[in-house]
Amino acid sequence: MLYSDKVMDHFMNPRNVGEISDASGVGLVGNAKCGDIMKMFLKISDNGVVEDAKFKTFGCGAAVATSSMATEMVKGKSVGDVMSITNKTVMEALDGLPAVKVHCSCLAEEALHAALWDYSKKSNVAIDGLKEPVSDIGEHDLTMV
Ligand code: FES
Repeated sequence: MLYSDKVMDHFMNPRNVGEISDASGVGLVGNAKCGDIMKMFLKISDNGVVEDAKFKTFGCGAAVATSSMATEMVKGKSVGDVMSITNKTVMEALDGLPAVKVHCSCLAEEALHAALWDYSKKSNVAIDGLKEPVSDIGEHDLTMV
């Protein structure tokens, strides 16, 4: 089996699909290589805790599963603790992804960071370690453009 049971579960029954109309931060990231797009919404309380997270994607099954798991993992965490959630920790929580699908988990991480960046700018809150996100995760590789 190419995918773990957890990946299949989050793909078949994705958690937190949708939008948050009064989101504190919204991130939109694409991957020009595969054409997939991810939009992430975060609702963050005044004391910097993620109260809700939702996502919408025009993406593959691995992108759906990693976003579903990532939104589950960030809920209830402080924005500082959210920074310790990476595509690796999300993949571990899903019992792994095939090597060719690792980039899909990067889409989820970058969309999460883009939503945090948006929140950080709008709310004037500095988040340690947060770098300006790219709008296309393929940007770093010129052969993809
Ligand atoms: Fe594009 Fe998975 S193939 S995100």
